[in-house]
Amino acid sequence: MKLQSIRRLRGEVIVPGDKSISHRAVMFGALAEGKTEITGFLRGADCLSTISCFRQLGISIEETADKIIVHGKGLHGLRAPVSTLDTGNSGTTMRLISGILAGQNFTSVLTGDSSIQRRPMRRIMTPLSQMGASIRSIKENNCAPLEITGSSLHGISYMSPVASAQVKSAVLLAGLYADGETSVTETAISRNHTELMLRSFGADIRTDHLTATIRPNPALHAMDIHVPGDISSASYFIVAGSLVPDSEILIRNVGINPTRDGIIRVAREMGADITLFNEKNTGEPVADLLVKSRSLHGITIGGDIIPTLIDELPIIAVMAAAADGTTVIRDAAELKVKESDRIAVMTENLSAMGCDITATQDGMIIHGRNALQGAVIDPHSDHRIAMSFAVAAMIADGETEIKDAGCVTISYPDFYDDLKKLGTK
Ligand code: S3P
Repeated sequence: MKLQSIRRLRGEVIVPGDKSISHRAVMFGALAEGKTEITGFLRGADCLSTISCFRQLGISIEETADKIIVHGKGLHGLRAPVSTLDTGNSGTTMRLISGILAGQNFTSVLTGDSSIQRRPMRRIMTPLSQMGASIRSIKENNCAPLEITGSSLHGISYMSPVASAQVKSAVLLAGLYADGETSVTETAISRNHTELMLRSFGADIRTDHLTATIRPNPALHAMDIHVPGDISSASYFIVAGSLVPDSEILIRNVGINPTRDGIIRVAREMGADITLFNEKNTGEPVADLLVKSRSLHGITIGGDIIPTLIDELPIIAVMAAAADGTTVIRDAAELKVKESDRIAVMTENLSAMGCDITATQDGMIIHGRNALQGAVIDPHSDHRIAMSFAVAAMIADGETEIKDAGCVTISYPDFYDDLKKLGTK
């Protein structure tokens, strides 16, 4: 795809449903008794992988124009899949399903695309094995494909070495099937959608600062879920609206859960003009966001805020490239094990656009304000990198070409159309 710089962005956008919440709505709906109706579901490739895995596990899932309907069969209602479960590009599907499969009385094999087969799975294999599950990396490289044989599980108190909602959720979900309480303590708080949603489904789960604790064998009851817009998808418009001169964008119905809102905090600290209104809570807090262009300045980003903006760091790097002064991103080594090595891939592509950027062990140092030049961008099939560079292209001189631009279907199939509409208004 070839993109040019743009004069200004104006108008309204409704971003698609939150990816993390959409996955969980299908998974928990499958484990509940009765019919869970989901509106606002993200029909991106990742969440469709979750639907297809649960269908293979014997759950009937209907897709209508505006809803997903999951006919849950209760905690013990899944059946052995007849073939390998394919999680595609989705780390959330792979890691959360592993927690559920650890408590079943059958064996399953999970695999996915070439990216997922490189991502670390030891982080879930360790706690699930401690709980008594048999979980094996078939190639013995601590990556997928994984073979999981469920068994009766023991409750554990797990100190997670990484602030990861996927690890926390895998252990808590296995905890539904354990013989006693299971708790997970993190180093910093990661997104808490599992805790919030499982509690609404009827699970006995409590949180105390960095620790989440679950008791086993609840009767989970089906419920209706409205998925808010994904703040990660909104982040491209937050940054585009801030950087493209003379812009004003209204982003409607965005999830602003405090474990996810680091992008708003960081953008404001860099000088962005973002107003929140129509705030409400429908299980998750949501708001409309109005973004107006402003000149930005560099800051240091690190510590406990990192898990609250981990998926937004690629677009934050673009924001830093256009800001005045230096931005330091640290404590973000997790970026190396996302859909791509996001430190390496951001550094390679921002350098190609003429940005002064250095990769570090756990982040990046970006000296902003050098005008970006159009370049050929290789996002390494990573949806968030492709979207970040579509925004960078809007403020670059000359033409930018994004290779494999279609990879955005993972989380935001209509991304380019939505961006284009704002440009032509
Ligand atoms: C997710 C958690 C995060 C995030 C991912 C979605 C989730 O991963 O990067 O896109 O839905 O739980 P980690 O838990 O590995 O940090």
